[in-house]
Amino acid sequence: MGKYIVGISGTSGSIIGFRLIAELLKSDHEVYLVTTDLGKKVMVRELSQDFEALIARLDVIETGILHIEAIDNFFSLISSGSFHVDGMVVAPCSMGTLAAIAAGTSENLLTRAADVCLKEHRTLILVPRETPLNAIHLENMLKLSRIGVVMIPPIPSFANNPETMGDLINQIVSRCLSALAVENDLYKRWDGKMSRSKIMTNHNFKSQSQKTP
Ligand SMILES: Cc1cc2nc3c(=O)[nH]c(=O)nc-3n(C[C@H](O)[C@H](O)[C@H](O)COP(=O)(O)O)c2cc1C
Repeated sequence: MGKYIVGISGTSGSIIGFRLIAELLKSDHEVYLVTTDLGKKVMVRELSQDFEALIARLDVIETGILHIEAIDNFFSLISSGSFHVDGMVVAPCSMGTLAAIAAGTSENLLTRAADVCLKEHRTLILVPRETPLNAIHLENMLKLSRIGVVMIPPIPSFANNPETMGDLINQIVSRCLSALAVENDLYKRWDGKMSRSKIMTNHNFKSQSQKTP
């Protein structure tokens, strides 16, 4: 059983963080979840449930262990490099949190835990969410990438016939799990075959506003 930190910050896509935690727990791992204040606010808007209700949904998973860490608790185990974890994922990662990690400010438990992963040379994965990206965002990503941080932006692949929003989310979660070296079969890997996509073939190229009621 591995120990992983999952950070959720205040940007679109907290469903990716929750799906990732669910998969880690199902695989019998231990998860330390740290969520920023804005992370809690944005997830209510996007997932129509507050933080406590979403955690209660994870509680039904009977394998693994979930620890909820307060964002201002610098006394947490994950604040120290002497506490071993197998990796950390910030999913989704706001440009604010990305900048704080790149600057090493460690002003909350999420950015402190990320800083600890960096100083201990442990796996750190970010799922940065913003579009379009400006030069500051890109420079911060490059700076972190150069010291080994894995960038997995939530960019879908259309090559393996995604049919639902769930398929697109699974692709990103699967990439994060693979980068943590956690086995998973959440999405169909490239098989080298030239099969044709039914979804894309049937797409009528009309915008939403052109759809007939
Ligand atoms: C509804 C909503 C959506 C947001 N989406 C994004 C986003 O996609 N990317 C981003 O970098 N910031 C986004 N923000 C802004 C961040 O929440 C803001 O920069 C905040 O300071 C981030 O704080 P945190 O990194 O501590 O969570 C969004 C804010 C709101 C209210």
